Amino acid sequence: MTKTIAVIAGDGIGPEIVGEAVKVLGKVAEKFGHDFTFNEKLVGGAAYDAFGDCLPDDTLAVCKSADAILLGAVGGPKWDALPGPQRPEKRALLTLRKELGLFANLRPAKVWPPLKGASPLKDEIIGEGLDLLVVRELTGGVYFGEHTRAADGQSALDKMPYSVAEIERIARVAFESARKRRRHVISVDKANVLETSRLWRETVQRLHDAEYPDVALEFMYVDNAAMQLVRAPSRFDVLLTENMFGDILSDEASQITGSIGMLPSASLRADGFGMYEPIHGSAPDIAGKGVANPLATILSAAMMLRHTFGLGEEADAVERAVGKVLESGVRTADLGGSASCAEIGAAVVAAL
Ligand code: NAD
Ligand code: IPM
Ligand code: MN
Repeated sequence: MTKTIAVIAGDGIGPEIVGEAVKVLGKVAEKFGHDFTFNEKLVGGAAYDAFGDCLPDDTLAVCKSADAILLGAVGGPKWDALPGPQRPEKRALLTLRKELGLFANLRPAKVWPPLKGASPLKDEIIGEGLDLLVVRELTGGVYFGEHTRAADGQSALDKMPYSVAEIERIARVAFESARKRRRHVISVDKANVLETSRLWRETVQRLHDAEYPDVALEFMYVDNAAMQLVRAPSRFDVLLTENMFGDILSDEASQITGSIGMLPSASLRADGFGMYEPIHGSAPDIAGKGVANPLATILSAAMMLRHTFGLGEEADAVERAVGKVLESGVRTADLGGSASCAEIGAAVVAAL
């Protein structure tokens, strides 16, 4: 199979972790006889420093014409003072998501057996297991509503719009995903306060009754969901959320698995095209030290193989290799070990 992958490493630990994931994809190509071309471009603060724009036209064009995108992370203190629309998070990340129509964000969180001890939860809670999928709406809600500051600077407003069509298409992804898993969707909202949440609930219920009666559906307020995740994580299968709730709950779920450095994601368009990135950020506190955990990015590359390229066997091979590395006991500092980012990448390549 011949594929072109846009590689946008970004800022902070981005280049370190993406470098290891590219090595893993290179090994997959060699082992399975594929031809992957990696087209590297600057994005985020790195692109701002070079060209005065966090998302240069050339980077966007390469991303649009690629078969898939591998992203590290963008942002950092150096660019925090830029005006909102020019910041790496908005100009690069949110623009890419919106421009490319990547409305469905899949964030699987599971406890890898060798990492049970790394979870902050007690043995009797984590012993029940954790294997959930956050299905997060990614191109709507408060992230893309109007953001304004009053002329006198004394008040501000962020709008949170949602339409029935936007809710239906993400709910469909959740129900379809649940059919391939344990057939249980928990839809998260704040319907006791927010009108968008009441529309969300009605829409999800209607779609369920009409097309997915075989999937169990529950509604949960977001505050309760945050609590239940640490009280009884094993009861979650698919968690359906709007944009901001999914952002928050997926970071929480990641730490239950031992580290945010373990959680991959896929941001998908209806036709299967996708951008793949770890759920964590640029980790400025450890950038440049070579100690970041590259596994979330490597597992994101595995999701690319599976979801966009349809290469399930190759994706399984990468995930098995990650499992072997964890079983061997080598791990980065976030998981209590002392291996470097490069050592973990090399170990995954060797296990492949
Ligand atoms: P963060 O996820 O970058 O870091 C939070 C904590 O987790 C830090 O202590 C960090 O060292 C640790 N961490 C994260 N990834 C790790 C890894 N792979 N290995 C080991 N430790 C890891 O979140 P933050 O500090 O809130 O944000 C830092 C910057 O990243 C901000 O500018 C933020 O806007 C940006 N950000 C970008 C993305 C993205 O590009 N997708 C996502 C989240 C945050
Ligand atoms: C994520 C990040 C982004 C988000 C930020 C950097 C805009 O936290 O991908 O989880 O909130 O979506
Ligand atoms: Mn986040």
